[in-house]
Amino acid sequence: MREHIDTELEEAGPSEMRSNMKLVVLGATGGTGLEIVRQAIERGHSITALVRSPDRLKPFRDRIAIEQGDLLNSAELEKVIQGHDAVLSGFGPRVPVSKTDVHLRQQFAGALTSAMRHAGIRRLVVESVAFLFKNSILPPAYLLGRLFFSGTVADTSAMERVLEESELDWTIVRPPELTDKPYTGKYRARGPPA
Ligand SMILES: NC(=O)c1ccc[n+]([C@@H]2O[C@H](COP(=O)([O-])OP(=O)(O)OC[C@H]3O[C@@H](n4cnc5c(N)ncnc54)[C@H](OP(=O)(O)O)[C@@H]3O)[C@@H](O)[C@H]2O)c1
Repeated sequence: MREHIDTELEEAGPSEMRSNMKLVVLGATGGTGLEIVRQAIERGHSITALVRSPDRLKPFRDRIAIEQGDLLNSAELEKVIQGHDAVLSGFGPRVPVSKTDVHLRQQFAGALTSAMRHAGIRRLVVESVAFLFKNSILPPAYLLGRLFFSGTVADTSAMERVLEESELDWTIVRPPELTDKPYTGKYRARGPPA
């Protein structure tokens, strides 16, 4: 399956995931990543998180495997990914984005696709941004992105190109603004690509 998805609060669709999968979560210490970890535990999956700051996952340390490493290093990624069924990513630059992080998502995508190819793991879900939906008129997501978040648009576009050109079985999720409100389980998913 290869698809772009954007999500809005509405109704939950059926889950394609079987239970007891061996998942690698990247960006596990972020807003989205923590939620992926929480939901994956709840659904009985086995989880490995590769992070640069393990302390942030302390509340989960008895329930998941936590590896410390460099998410831009293909060899380190490959070692951690080996033997898993899928990789889920909530990775992205911390805001405000520093000058050194301008191409972070693109670098990450290059390292990750190479690591997954070498490890023989094909299933990948990656978080991108709704600004890339060119056909969204209300709101005019692409226009707003180009005008006010040109750096984000450039880096996420480059990241998506790397994924699209890979041989992986990828899903790119393009959410609009996320909130820290409690999980409702209600959302709407839409595809295919813009
Ligand atoms: N938040 C939104 O409203 C929203 C909406 C649409 C799309 N998105 C996109 O979705 C993605 C995730 O968003 P989010 O708000 O969940 O992100 P977030 O809370 O800022 O978390 C980012 C994650 O990436 C990790 N990370 C960042 N730079 C890293 C580096 N150099 N090396 C290793 N790990 C690194 C962070 O690790 P540390 O804990 O170590 O910093 C953290 O786990 C981003 O690409 C964002 O643009 C966000």
